[in-house]
Amino acid sequence: MANNDSQQDFGIKEIVAHAKEYGFVYPSSEIYDGLQAVYDYGPYGAELKKNLKDLWWQAMIKLNENVVGLDAAIFMHPLTWKASGHIDSFNDPMVDNKDSKKRYRADVLVEDHAALLSAQGQTEKAQQLVSEMNRLLDANDLTGLRQFLMDEKIVCPVSGTTNWTDVRQFNLMFSTQVGSVAEDANVIYLRPETAQGIFVNFLNVQKTARMKIPFGIAQIGKAFRNEIVARQFIFRMREFEQMEMQFFIRPGEESQWYEYWKDVRMKWHKALGIPAENLQFHDHEKLAHYAAAAVDIEYKFPFGFKEIEGIHSRTDFDLGNHQSLSKKKMQYFDPQINQNYVPYVVETSAGADRLFFMLLCNGYKEETTGEGDDVKTRTYLKFHPALAPVKAAILPLVKKDGLPEIGRKVFEDLKYDFNLIYEDSQSIGKRYARQDLIGTPFCIAIDHQTKEDETVTIRHRDSMEQERVKIAELKDKISQAVSIKNIFKEL
Ligand code: GAP
Repeated sequence: MANNDSQQDFGIKEIVAHAKEYGFVYPSSEIYDGLQAVYDYGPYGAELKKNLKDLWWQAMIKLNENVVGLDAAIFMHPLTWKASGHIDSFNDPMVDNKDSKKRYRADVLVEDHAALLSAQGQTEKAQQLVSEMNRLLDANDLTGLRQFLMDEKIVCPVSGTTNWTDVRQFNLMFSTQVGSVAEDANVIYLRPETAQGIFVNFLNVQKTARMKIPFGIAQIGKAFRNEIVARQFIFRMREFEQMEMQFFIRPGEESQWYEYWKDVRMKWHKALGIPAENLQFHDHEKLAHYAAAAVDIEYKFPFGFKEIEGIHSRTDFDLGNHQSLSKKKMQYFDPQINQNYVPYVVETSAGADRLFFMLLCNGYKEETTGEGDDVKTRTYLKFHPALAPVKAAILPLVKKDGLPEIGRKVFEDLKYDFNLIYEDSQSIGKRYARQDLIGTPFCIAIDHQTKEDETVTIRHRDSMEQERVKIAELKDKISQAVSIKNIFKEL
């Protein structure tokens, strides 16, 4: 039997197929052949994502007395994006291959090529390439970048040629109009990050919730980016969800808070059940337009270590720019030092969809038992019980002899506390297998003994072990196992 806890390297194909087949993630508007880089969450996906977001929200707000929540609108005044720098600087360098007619991000082409060289042991050369690319991008030397692609023989993966067009900067924000008549319409953007809703509300929240620096504002919500190359399933989408927290601090204290939040956020990912060896920090070489220091937390996806969350030291860049453009003071009076200042900010910014994808990759297990003709494979999703979409399945062994009636009663008693499934057709083995595939941690079987002594069996998803317990004990037992306190204890 394969070791349950060992990291099993399944390809992305199995995981994407499983996600679709078992109600986690579907391509958007699939009946029309889908919409690139947009996905819908099915019944179990929606539950898993909701549990993940609830956990983040509670960890931020319940565990930190000085962090409060916000739910700002997606549409914001267009000047917001001028102040934030997104209109001028939120660009990706885009290039087309004239032979294959395929479009790429020039920086991703270079990074992929460098990763290949690293894998072949040419680490120094790989680093040189990335540094040179960053130098060209910082200087906005797009002609130089095209020449660099050709000189370094960085080829199109489809045509295999270096027949590149000019490199152009492409702004990632989606725009639309507000106003009912075309002449009155104003351009408005779909927010590319949730953070700006927090910045523009800084004073509202500080005053109305009577917050004292240091304090944080947390928000979960949709963000939109017109990604040039959308790939790897829900890793890079055009519509996605962010879980962001801006922590407002006294200028000069940014290094200590940056380290603090790096540590807290890394612990959080480990507490979800992600093995430490599959997580790493990656310092940014090329900083976003707003950042003075930035690090990614990366997870080892089947396609390599990739960013799931960013921790950014944003100085007073955003509040300062909003103050200049809006002409409204963004200052805080600090009674401890008797001074007014524009606070500095350390941000934690996680993608809900990327964390969801990480949970799927981490949880997907295939276990083989038996030998020769008798080999059997069991597939299951090993989610932390607090995150699992369905907590328990109530399964009468047979559909007669009064067992369904007992099952229904158990279901009715527990349904206010847990998300449950009731099923009384098909063999019990098939029903267990079905629950494994969606990651249900507990299957509760009602059998003939139940009628005699009011006990049931609980079958555990990961070990497949069964234990006999009293019906009256079920609620406490499941509550303890699925409590988010189990995750919080690790933080
Ligand atoms: N407010 C800072 C900010 O938005 P970011 O590094 O651009 O920083 C933060 O994004 C997180 O949002 C990323 O770590 C990732 O998890 C998620 N994210 C960004 N772009 C995404 C996309 N196109 N699809 C899915 N998730 C994305």
